[in-house]
Amino acid sequence: MPVLVITGTGTEVGKTVVTAAVAATALAAGRSVAVLKAAQTGVRPDEPGDAQEVARLAGAVTTAELARYPDPLAPATAARRAGRPPVHPHEVAERAAKLATDHDLVLVEGAGGLLVRFDAAGGTLADAAALLTAPVLVVAPAGLGTLNATELTARELRGRGLDLAGVVIGSWPGEPDLAARCNLLDLPDVTGAPLLGAVQAGAGALDPAAFRTSAPRWLAPRLEGVWDAEAFRVRESP
Ligand SMILES: Nc1ncnc2c1ncn2[C@@H]1O[C@H](COP(=O)(O)OP(=O)(O)OP(=O)(O)O)[C@@H](O)[C@H]1O
Ligand SMILES: [Mg+2]
Repeated sequence: MPVLVITGTGTEVGKTVVTAAVAATALAAGRSVAVLKAAQTGVRPDEPGDAQEVARLAGAVTTAELARYPDPLAPATAARRAGRPPVHPHEVAERAAKLATDHDLVLVEGAGGLLVRFDAAGGTLADAAALLTAPVLVVAPAGLGTLNATELTARELRGRGLDLAGVVIGSWPGEPDLAARCNLLDLPDVTGAPLLGAVQAGAGALDPAAFRTSAPRWLAPRLEGVWDAEAFRVRESP
């Protein structure tokens, strides 16, 4: 699994925090890791972007970013408004493939959800994943509304012949409500893909040492962690 593409059901679902957890877990397993934020929007040139946030939380990863636009919008829109060239899916794929030549694992984080556009031709992260023939991890919210959005994302991936590696819950609450607890059973059912983890709420605010120690406990063995989906479900929804 040299390249893993990380998308989500939308923006602010925890893609960056999950990317950091996957990176920290891989680093702990002795892998070299690169993180590529395909297009970073909504931050100024001097501000840390998502890739830097992953490095802060996870540790010694190579960070890369193809373009940065100031407006907090979809990359295609933000590029147009900035009067700058957009990022094209083939550029994302090329940079990821290059990083994969000297890293054990390359994590590619998209912007927002799967079909958010990078360029005026309608290129998306899904196109980059197809060029790379890379598996895709979907980050999903825990609670009400996630079944529909996650199934839509899974269907789009399948329709494109892409490999849906699994779903990770971006922020698992300390006191999960009925919907969140039921979703542990229903998310794998509606997506046809395994749950590969649940990152505890508040993880992004942990100090980096605590984050790195905890990360393997939030992720399944497929992601080199020790999280057990079945044991978690039984514990959280007795
Ligand atoms: N498990 C978590 N613990 C603590 N904070 C979290 C967690 N998940 C998400 N957050 C917080 O929620 C916000 C959104 O998370 P994050 O930046 O990971 O989303 P994203 O899906 O990467 O969004 P974007 O589309 O902008 O890249 C951030 O402020 C982040 O710190
Ligand atoms: Mg992010």
